[in-house]
Amino acid sequence: MHLLSALLAAASLAGISTFALAGPSYTADGKLELPANYRDWTFLTAGIDMSYSAIAMSMGGSMFDNVFVDPAAYKHFQETGQWQDGTMLVIEMRDAQSKGSINKHGHFQSGPAMALEAHVKDSRFKTGWGFFEFSSNDPAPMVPEKEACYSCHQAHAAVDTTFVQFYPTLLPIAEKLDSLSPEFKRERAAE
Ligand code: HEC
Repeated sequence: MHLLSALLAAASLAGISTFALAGPSYTADGKLELPANYRDWTFLTAGIDMSYSAIAMSMGGSMFDNVFVDPAAYKHFQETGQWQDGTMLVIEMRDAQSKGSINKHGHFQSGPAMALEAHVKDSRFKTGWGFFEFSSNDPAPMVPEKEACYSCHQAHAAVDTTFVQFYPTLLPIAEKLDSLSPEFKRERAAE
């Protein structure tokens, strides 16, 4: 047996997770590298035309958003209801089309990602989290902390500035493990 497979076998016998957190990777000037394989991560949700969006909608058209999280961070959340340092979440926007192939009603996703943003938990940031907006595959600078990303996520997101209220496999865990933010509990109680 090769050394690596022997180690993996030993780890799985010991019940140790073989998932490793990817963790953010920065350039020397503090830009975040686009996590190249985010599309292989754990899928959290698809929203359509969610009207909070700060991103301009394509003229008259509809847009989907898809949210993904690092699988190791997902596993940690399942066990604890919390995000660990190094967690990365990615949201992408894609065009919603209705006419195509055999489709007559409803919408399907089509074409390349029109926008790509990351939310990174890293103790190097003042609030513990940083937002990044990619305009290409090139590394992206951090969005300044005065931007609305931070205040909206802080004021309305269910768990630790992430919108777990819209992630159906995570919300029951956060409820059970009591990790909902005070802001969200107040907002929900007022509904
Ligand atoms: C007015 C409120 C609001 C503002 C402003 C906002 N967002 Fe969000 N964001 C949301 C909501 C709601 C979701 C959940 C999307 C879904 O359920 O599909 C979300 C989800 C996300 C996610 C997925 C991970 C997570 O934290 O839940 C990322 C990444 C993200 N937003 C980045 C940004 C960036 C970057 C900006 C600023 C350029 C921004 N957002 C501004 C409301 C907001």
